[in-house]
Amino acid sequence: MTQSIGEYTVSSFEAATLPEEETSRFAEWFKAVRLGFHDGTPSDEMQAKALRNLRHDRRILTGVYQGSVPAQALPADMPVATFGTFVKDLNVGRGQMLPAHLITAVTVRPTHRRRGILKGLMTQDLRAAQEKGLAIAALTASEGGIYGRFGFGVATRERSVTVDVSARFALRHEPAGTVELIDPRNLLELAEGIFEQAHQQTPGSIGRARFYTMLVSGLVDHKGEESKDLRAALHYDESGTPDGYVAYKFKGWDSEPYAMEVVDLVAATPDAHLGLWRFLASLDLVERIEMEDAPVEDPLEWALVDPRCLKGRDPRDMLWLRILDVKAALEAKRYPLDGSLVFRVEDPLGLVDGSYRLVVVGGTATVTEMLDDADDATLELSLGAAELASVYLGGVPVAALAEAGRIEEHVPGAVERLGLFLTPERPVHCRSHF
Ligand SMILES: CC(C)(COP(=O)(O)OP(=O)(O)OC[C@H]1O[C@@H](n2cnc3c(N)ncnc32)[C@H](O)[C@@H]1OP(=O)(O)O)[C@@H](O)C(=O)NCCC(=O)NCCS
Repeated sequence: MTQSIGEYTVSSFEAATLPEEETSRFAEWFKAVRLGFHDGTPSDEMQAKALRNLRHDRRILTGVYQGSVPAQALPADMPVATFGTFVKDLNVGRGQMLPAHLITAVTVRPTHRRRGILKGLMTQDLRAAQEKGLAIAALTASEGGIYGRFGFGVATRERSVTVDVSARFALRHEPAGTVELIDPRNLLELAEGIFEQAHQQTPGSIGRARFYTMLVSGLVDHKGEESKDLRAALHYDESGTPDGYVAYKFKGWDSEPYAMEVVDLVAATPDAHLGLWRFLASLDLVERIEMEDAPVEDPLEWALVDPRCLKGRDPRDMLWLRILDVKAALEAKRYPLDGSLVFRVEDPLGLVDGSYRLVVVGGTATVTEMLDDADDATLELSLGAAELASVYLGGVPVAALAEAGRIEEHVPGAVERLGLFLTPERPVHCRSHF
């Protein structure tokens, strides 16, 4: 598909169906992405591995090209801007899945920035996703100031944690099940199944890109190279069925105190989660376990005899959502109480502007768009598209956004009611970057 933004040509291709003889097109696109994120020029091997993963994810890759380039400049077949999309299920709570339009690899070359390329790409792409019938879009952001203007709101957060596993570490109860060390290569077969079980149970969880399977089995690290120092352990439930894994690395004899870094920890049950942490705490010679991408609400903290063994730092936004269809997004959820709410959504891009009536009966919602402006007299609450996206999963308190001046209550109690409707059954967490 070819479009344009001003003087630039926009062209997309599907990774999965890109013919072998056209892989140079991918190579130039991939180099441009790495340039955008200040990463090194990729080796042929790294490029081949990346293409295999993106084919598996069925990603659509978009490049923005300039017509002609001056002598010595980067070649015209290397895009000046990149954009990638693919579709994975988002767990919207209570086990309900909604296909989400995932946006990734957003870069604009420094010499072409602030000319409206991102704006052009994003508005064209969101409209196309909406026309395809996708009710929600998602991304993770390199900077917090970029995406609010396009109707995206922060829906999940994460943090880094450090756990003191010296003699202080003790759990309040013994989790059921056992843990064994495994060859990380075995996760090639196991990781996706275990992740899927955890994914089904975690509101905010997004289906995983293929990259994770490669990462936890040691076939690639974040530099795209094979990982020789990765270790892995599997948790088995009482019947001997694997229900959790952890992939981890020693931080080296220079670390002070000696520490282990969790590369990925996925548990399908609370026992698997605590059992894997107990295993990590039992590792000899290390006094500290470090984990990035950790949940903000971690049951481990509450299971420790001394909760201060766990120190969280750098809480940050993780998943940003963008509602493309209010009716479909809200009807996809299940609700903990019955009732109704009439609300107005204001959308800077005009994709979901309107007044809506949500009626929940037996935990299932019916949403009607109210076409008659006279009905506005019954409005109970108004919010922007980004604010609706933020509170949608229940991970961001409605009351906090109202107190921040971002949700307007027209009828007393409406903010609390929306908060109750959206209360999740478990802490919201997205454990998959993309
Ligand atoms: C972020 C980036 C993609 C923006 O691209 P761009 O083509 O310069 O953006 P546009 O010219 O379309 O800008 C659209 C709007 O967003 C604003 N904007 C763009 N980048 C922004 C930033 N980093 N912070 C805050 N606002 C930003 C612009 O000021 C403009 O605002 P306006 O509509 O009110 O005039 C580009 O700077 C980039 O590639 N950065 C490095 C890689 C990166 O961070 N990618 C994002 C990955 S999640």
